[in-house]
Amino acid sequence: MTLIGSTLTRWMLPALCLAAGMAHAQTYPTKPVTWVVPFAAGGPTDALARNIADRVSREIGQPILIENAPGAGGTVGAAKAARAPADGYTFLVGHVGYMAAAPSLYSKLSYDPVKDFEGVFRFPDTPLVLLVGANSPYKTVQDLVAHAKANPGKLNFGNAGVGSTSHLVAAMFAQKAGIKITPVAYKGAGPALTDVMGGQVDGMFDQTNTALPQVSGGKVRGIAQTATRRVPQFSQVPTVAETVVPGFEASTWYGLYAPKGVPKEVVARVYAAWGKALQDPAFVKRLADQGIQMLPDAQYAPAALTQHTASEVVKWKKVIADANIKLD
Ligand code: MLT
Repeated sequence: MTLIGSTLTRWMLPALCLAAGMAHAQTYPTKPVTWVVPFAAGGPTDALARNIADRVSREIGQPILIENAPGAGGTVGAAKAARAPADGYTFLVGHVGYMAAAPSLYSKLSYDPVKDFEGVFRFPDTPLVLLVGANSPYKTVQDLVAHAKANPGKLNFGNAGVGSTSHLVAAMFAQKAGIKITPVAYKGAGPALTDVMGGQVDGMFDQTNTALPQVSGGKVRGIAQTATRRVPQFSQVPTVAETVVPGFEASTWYGLYAPKGVPKEVVARVYAAWGKALQDPAFVKRLADQGIQMLPDAQYAPAALTQHTASEVVKWKKVIADANIKLD
């Protein structure tokens, strides 16, 4: 009989584990933490991640380092994070593209969004805006659709790679509007937006938090938006639903994930830090002022994010089939 079986009765072991876990939680984190952002710096995912990381780091008492690991619509960075140690010092900033659509787009995905990750907390959602260059001939989304119908495949749309929301939303928009566009992939929406501004590509769907400063600065024009109701910061921009595709709605959902097996106390500690951030009116206003849509509190919870991810993987399999979205 082993020592542990004879001297530690059944109840002591869990108590010791809990005590050890709680001790770990009380000291965690003891060094800086890394959040992997699988797109180039300067895009909406990077911007939102830095916004949230800055506030959460104040609650956990350690710096949160953003590591940009772009490529293949976010799947390169997601695969890297899936292989990281489950020790609470590496997390993934995940979103609908590489955490829900990717399994239906990439035949050889080297990670499983559900099996390889634990949900830590969901971020608020970010709707998108259809952007064209300041000197674009398309003054309205109707102009753009009419030109695209007369010139199939001639319109180039920038995106952040296959499975990014800038790719998925443009593909769904094209399919439902009955037009053909040519996707042009970049390492993130940031570099894609630069080329919309420069006229190298005709347009793109970008998220409100990075679209807003460029629209305000007159570098690009928003001619439609994908929220169901007009976002206050884009009150003059009609929705896709009220113009060319009735019922059209799209937004990017995000979440913070840890590699499967991360200590539960770590998830609880980081989720509690997010809860504290949500109680900071200045922080919440800063997000809302970027057109970011806050969610009911219950939807931010770790289990809610994990369940949401699993249901979205199933949903996007159908959306991708119906919209005939393929690896370009
Ligand atoms: C996307 O899905 O288009 C990404 O959010 C782009 C990015 O954040 O760079």
